[in-house]
Amino acid sequence: IFENFDSLLTKRRCQAERSIVVEVPSVNSLDHVLHSCCAIGQVSSLFHYTTFNKYVNKHKEMLLVEFSEPISAREMMLYCPTSSSACLPVRSPFFQYHDQRTSPAPLRQSQSLSTDNLNRQEQVEKQKIFRENLLSDKDLKQSIFSCNSISEQMKLFYDKTKLTDLGSRLRFLTCRQVEVALAGPLPHLSALPFGSSVNGFGHCLSDLDMVMQLEHSELVRACPEWAESFVLQNASDTAFGQQRVSSTRFLELVADVLRSTSPGCTQIVKVLKARVPIVKYHQQLTGLDCDLSINNWSGLYMSELLYQYSALDARVAPLLFCLRLWAKEAQLTSQHPGRWITNFSITTLALYYLISLRILPPFELLKKHARPEDARVAENSLDCSYLRSLSRIAALHSPPKATRSLTLEDLLLGFFSFYDEFDFRKHGLTIIYGKTFIKPDSSAMYIQNPLDGSLNVSRNVTLEEVERFSMAVTRALHSLHQDAPQTSPGWGLLSLWSSSDHRPLQAISLDWNLIFNNDVKKSPPHSAEHSSADSNVSPQN
Ligand code: CTP
Ligand code: MG
Repeated sequence: IFENFDSLLTKRRCQAERSIVVEVPSVNSLDHVLHSCCAIGQVSSLFHYTTFNKYVNKHKEMLLVEFSEPISAREMMLYCPTSSSACLPVRSPFFQYHDQRTSPAPLRQSQSLSTDNLNRQEQVEKQKIFRENLLSDKDLKQSIFSCNSISEQMKLFYDKTKLTDLGSRLRFLTCRQVEVALAGPLPHLSALPFGSSVNGFGHCLSDLDMVMQLEHSELVRACPEWAESFVLQNASDTAFGQQRVSSTRFLELVADVLRSTSPGCTQIVKVLKARVPIVKYHQQLTGLDCDLSINNWSGLYMSELLYQYSALDARVAPLLFCLRLWAKEAQLTSQHPGRWITNFSITTLALYYLISLRILPPFELLKKHARPEDARVAENSLDCSYLRSLSRIAALHSPPKATRSLTLEDLLLGFFSFYDEFDFRKHGLTIIYGKTFIKPDSSAMYIQNPLDGSLNVSRNVTLEEVERFSMAVTRALHSLHQDAPQTSPGWGLLSLWSSSDHRPLQAISLDWNLIFNNDVKKSPPHSAEHSSADSNVSPQN
């Protein structure tokens, strides 16, 4: 756990700058790749993983190599030749390894590693090869079945499915690829992950949300007063001088650059008409589905807030994991946007419940104690300043003693009991004050957005979906209360796993060409199961 979100981003971004990914012909060549990497620079860690390309039904053996110094990764990008058929030199942290066993890779003069050193380093580094083995659904259920309590099941589910160190590294490396691809025209660009990749609620299979920052944040924050009097000549009468046009044009450019220069980026789709325009793509070399946006600062600052809440109490993340699982299995959530509740709304409901127990502080407290260094302004001049120091928050807020002994099981049951009683027809709720209020409009569910109090996080949710939510809550409460013996196959947390009597979300086939743009013709979408009504629903409300 880091003292604040920025330290997490800095550490992971530095790691990504020192890292590369190599596709290897087979596991048998790992030693040889390691030997070759040691000739380039000192290797600090190695991770072996396998990607499965669902579009061509093929496995690839991959190696993530972290060097001790960023120069080694940079030199590799600089010196390794691009394919002989390419007319532009292409830079990327993704490589393919060609076995040169008959003629070992020569050491360049700048590396003065003796053969002895190499051998010694190899011995050490060989032990640092980690293999990413995800449990199958069946094995996971078996392990959960063998637990002694629901709390133990919840903790195990969290430990076995949360984002791993390698998962996190691959996410930051996928961001790094975007930075490298655009470094020519935009040397100060940062691509930052947000959402469940960094907010503490990341599942190993979660999508990657990314936001691009075009200038150094220090430059933006330290803008002197006189700079407000000057605007660059022509800035407002060019396409790039107008915010809306400029961000969609820029994203079009980014999509083209990724398509033409960045290995592994496939299924590229521009979703420019959404309220937050994005480029969607699948990065096959890291196995990640990506949503790339620009200027979505509030999304990033919201993730930072969730990160802080998840880090304040060790029970928050396991509880959220189980609630997200329950919502998925009860088919309340879907990977596609629509009229249903989202994981983000479920998260806010859970935070509200924990704030009402005073396990977590209301957001108001964090806002009140913001220091000058916590000042942040998001798009549309939205003030996102709040205290960004875990130790200070912990010093300001001490949960009542009685809540400390509440187990994960208590909290899970408590969540369901709480929302079983909650009157969504009448009341809205807010984590700013940890209070309910009379709904100001006819939305079926009203959860105030903590960063922008005028917005409702669950504006998209229909009455029918709220009813399904309430019914699922009652059903969950009932299943968990059943006191099924620990020998019965679906005891405890397993009872929240899918049962066939729920009505599935309707799959409406989508005509992407009508909704987005012609580009889609060239790149099929990730899935055909999208609702045409949802094309312009933004991830932001
Ligand atoms: N977000 C927001 N306001 C919303 C919806 C989303 O600020 N109305 C921000 C939140 O920071 C959220 C992030 O955008 O974490 C990404 O949204 P989404 O992908 O929907 O949620 P995740 O937390 O990433 O969950 P999932 O695993 O379902 O992707
Ligand atoms: Mg997400």
